[in-house]
Amino acid sequence: MKKLVRKNILKVTPYKAGKPIEETKRELGLKKVIKLASNENSLGASPKALAAIRKAVTAVNRYPDSQGFYLKRKLADKFSLVPENIVLGNGSDELIDIIIKTFVEDREEVLTADITFLEYEIISRVNGRRVSTVPLKNFRFDLREMKKQITGKTKLIFIANPNNPTGTYVPKNELVGFIKDLPAHVLVVLDEAYDTFIDVPDFPRGTELFKNNNLIVMRTFSKAYGLAGLRIGYAVGDEVLTAYMERVRQPFNVNLLAQAAAAAALDDDDFLLKTGKSVLEGKYYLYDALRSMGISYVPSVANFILVDTARNGAGVFQSMLKEGVIVRDMQQYGLNNYVRVTIGTRRENEKFIEAFKKVLNKK
Ligand SMILES: Cc1ncc(COP(=O)(O)O)c(C=O)c1O
Repeated sequence: MKKLVRKNILKVTPYKAGKPIEETKRELGLKKVIKLASNENSLGASPKALAAIRKAVTAVNRYPDSQGFYLKRKLADKFSLVPENIVLGNGSDELIDIIIKTFVEDREEVLTADITFLEYEIISRVNGRRVSTVPLKNFRFDLREMKKQITGKTKLIFIANPNNPTGTYVPKNELVGFIKDLPAHVLVVLDEAYDTFIDVPDFPRGTELFKNNNLIVMRTFSKAYGLAGLRIGYAVGDEVLTAYMERVRQPFNVNLLAQAAAAAALDDDDFLLKTGKSVLEGKYYLYDALRSMGISYVPSVANFILVDTARNGAGVFQSMLKEGVIVRDMQQYGLNNYVRVTIGTRRENEKFIEAFKKVLNKK
């Protein structure tokens, strides 16, 4: 049977998603489980989005708006763009696929970091494209080294800013310097999945940088807006580039409820503020608690923290499951001593620390 499968698919390592709550309850016979594994919004979804879903649900007998007219217009207004600068996707995951299919020829290559969002590499390989990676430096994208690694074959460069799973970021001056004198055959994709949690002044905003540059920005409604289950994200780029991406995407790639919810969520400033405040408070609570346990971590500008357990991270992950706390095991990223924890509600963070202390035998 295997002979029927394309050669590049045989070599693909599947993406391992965060373990679901129900599965963990079932497998371990637990009543209460908290999930801090997929960088979701632990406050829930935007209430305005939920109201819009309720209103839109009776229209699901109709196909969604193939052009995403209303949502694109709202996004364009928000960032002072035109709707033609925007492509909607079934999450950023789908946009990664659309971008690779639109721009990377058979013989061309994708360049990214060795420890970053795994889907860049997986989707490239599924599409039969080669990927080169550059090691992070102090847990950060090393743009200087990446520039050195660009060859005549390099077509796309994926930069996650902030990076997942490290939570680190590339400052504005570094990014601007990097894109300024790139060879003309190279396109940069800036993945800003966590752009709403930033608490530093020198973070670059891709929507302000893409004009006159070979740059596409990706954003998602999965994180701060709490719509991960609906699957919706968007890409911003030059109209010439986005027009070709529109040819590649499926006509009804973003469902009707997702479009309605995302448009409403964009108006939900209260929810965004509440989320931002909760993440920041949670972050400083977790920093303090970890420090007092003598545990080191990578300072983060996102809604998650990479934590050095100083022992086998996979074992810690399993022991945490038994305590009813799902974190993310970092084996897939080659960070064997680490786990990544999403910043949750105050109670979730306390529960995490309580379980972590028990698992690591700390007081
Ligand atoms: C850096 C990064 N990009 C993209 C995604 C995927 O986002 P979406 O849910 O929009 O597919 C994630 C999700 O964890 C991520 O961490």
